[in-house]
Amino acid sequence: MSLSLSADQPAAPADAEDGVWLECIECGETFAPFADVRYTCDECDGLLEVRYDDLPTFEDFAAAADPDQGVWRYADALPLPSGVSIQEGATPLYDVPSLEADLGLEALRIKHEGMNPTGSFKDRGMTVGVAVARELGVDRLACASTGNTSAALAAYGSRGGMETLVLLPAGKVAAGKVAQASLHGARILEVDGNFDACLDIVQELAGQGEAYLLNSLNPFRLEGQKTIGLEILEGFLADYDTVPDRIVLPVGNAGNTSALYKAFRELVQAGALEEDEVPKLVGVQAEGAAPMVEAIENGADEVRRWDDVETRATAIRIGNPVNAPKALPGIRETGGTAISVTDEEITDAQRDLAGEGIGVEPASAASVAGLRKLREEGIVTEDERVACLTTGHLLKDPDAAAAAGREPEPVPAETAGVLDHL
Ligand code: F0G
Repeated sequence: MSLSLSADQPAAPADAEDGVWLECIECGETFAPFADVRYTCDECDGLLEVRYDDLPTFEDFAAAADPDQGVWRYADALPLPSGVSIQEGATPLYDVPSLEADLGLEALRIKHEGMNPTGSFKDRGMTVGVAVARELGVDRLACASTGNTSAALAAYGSRGGMETLVLLPAGKVAAGKVAQASLHGARILEVDGNFDACLDIVQELAGQGEAYLLNSLNPFRLEGQKTIGLEILEGFLADYDTVPDRIVLPVGNAGNTSALYKAFRELVQAGALEEDEVPKLVGVQAEGAAPMVEAIENGADEVRRWDDVETRATAIRIGNPVNAPKALPGIRETGGTAISVTDEEITDAQRDLAGEGIGVEPASAASVAGLRKLREEGIVTEDERVACLTTGHLLKDPDAAAAAGREPEPVPAETAGVLDHL
């Protein structure tokens, strides 16, 4: 199977361009990467992956001297040499001593993707995806979004000089994200339906040639998101001389789960990582939107679409994770798992991180909430070194932050009154 950890490096087909091509994960059909616009396989409608005839190692990345280059330091693992960039990537890998001790782990680090230019990991995908759009010569970009994708698409699209169209579930997108999409100049279409309905519509619009689709169904976007995994591994190698045992991340459409797994598979194929060193991937969903967890628990090969989804973590309020065929093998082949958490557990984890000075939006805190649960259940053990991914910044969802935090205390406008109150 092409998504197995032990799959061999494939030989370049005739339609490869500079050693890069697209391949269907279901039937193996190959396509030239930039000749036509396509998101899925022409033959069987399966998901596509970008493939390379020459895969880089850590030495190749180290040779790209400037670590501040972020995503594009990993150009050897990307389909283009440069992108439409606003200096994305190179995010902090924070230590969290109190939380590490509290959870009882050998090491715990927080990869805070909220520190990207628009405040989420989506920037890593957009810097590549929008560059590919330019290469393809399209002029209108579109996405469905729970918010962060729309903010990133609006920013990168405007930077690339392209028109942007975003479809959002009305009333279910956090304020910061709508504000970003709006100011960066996207046309915001508020759909009377959930995210999955928005994605159905935008896929049809893209299929009719109305716009270039930049959801994570787009295989080029996931290439940029691989760099999260590469940075985590390099960070752990530098600090502990070993890669993490486990990476815990929130799951919505399962794009990151797929992208991290692809990054690790490619390192194994390049001979840079042993198969048994690959970190276990753990996906965390909110209880009210947990179709991936259901599939993992039932040993199912396919995910059942949930029509009614609800969670305070609006970023992952998703019932039909389109990347499941890539992500399920990722979780299984790495020996990982998937777990769901309640909204209360998510808010508690948001407070735990805030107590270490790290501000995240609710969906991001799901990773830490899931880790706590797995630690309590004894599935994660005290000798493990773990990385948690926090995917978006606190300011994305100011209402959730204010609700989880302390109430302001009204005081009179004079020092004596303030002292009195204190
Ligand atoms: N965390 C945040 C903050 C997100 O915005 C998303 C996805 C996820 C996690 C889930 O990531 O899809 O790779 O499993 N947000 C998308 C959006 C759906 O439209 O912004 P995934």
